[in-house]
Amino acid sequence: MTLNEDRVGRLLDRLHREADATDRPLFEEMMKQAGDGGMEGAIAELVAASADYRQVASDFGGNFLAVSPGYGRFLYALARAVRAKRIVEFGTSMGVSSIYLAAALRDNGGGHLIGSELEPAKAARARAHLDAAGLLDLVDIREGDALDTLRDIGGEVDLLLIDGAWPLYLPVLKLIERHLRPGAIVVAENAFAQDYLDYVRDPAHGYIWQTLPIDEGRGNEFAVKVG
Ligand SMILES: C[S@@+](CC[C@H](N)C(=O)[O-])C[C@H]1O[C@@H](n2cnc3c(N)ncnc32)[C@H](O)[C@@H]1O
Repeated sequence: MTLNEDRVGRLLDRLHREADATDRPLFEEMMKQAGDGGMEGAIAELVAASADYRQVASDFGGNFLAVSPGYGRFLYALARAVRAKRIVEFGTSMGVSSIYLAAALRDNGGGHLIGSELEPAKAARARAHLDAAGLLDLVDIREGDALDTLRDIGGEVDLLLIDGAWPLYLPVLKLIERHLRPGAIVVAENAFAQDYLDYVRDPAHGYIWQTLPIDEGRGNEFAVKVG
């Protein structure tokens, strides 16, 4: 299993440590500013501030904002379970989640991970990390706004990870939706955008959904395209 290979395991350990050290002050500051509102207050403030998503992406240009190790293993397991060959990721950042997904593609016998990242410096670091993991040949990280870069996907999608700017969760889902094969999985990390949740939870749109108890409070929404 690729995840257990020395160079991949060590790299992920290092990146999770680095992400923790880099992002902890940001999360502590957010909690402090949210004051009595706690986590929910902090999220409400972030939702309000996220409308100017290009500015937000630039402000957080040095942050990983990565999935946790547990969620990363969950992504790997999902991609293996559906024998994913084509995966789309909205919001690549430094490539931590991409390593889990690309490792699953490798163990599925190959495939394509199409990533998207607004910040060029982050895309470059993600490519370097994937290269260090020996997985870059499976990954195409597209720089720029996902609303533009994810227009041409080139085939059926088995798994979509939505983890970018919050106001774009629903627009990105709608962009990719026609490519989702029956039984495709859509996972959204930090799914706090109400229009996204309303859409996926409306049976008319053909998803079966569940909010996951992984990393409680982080808004991990899971859906399978069944209709
Ligand atoms: C939460 S982070 C992604 C973390 C990554 N999935 C991981 O687990 O390692 C969100 C990323 O989405 C990027 N982003 C925000 N808006 C975007 C857009 N419109 N198009 C592409 N990337 C975007 C941000 O720059 C940021 O790096």
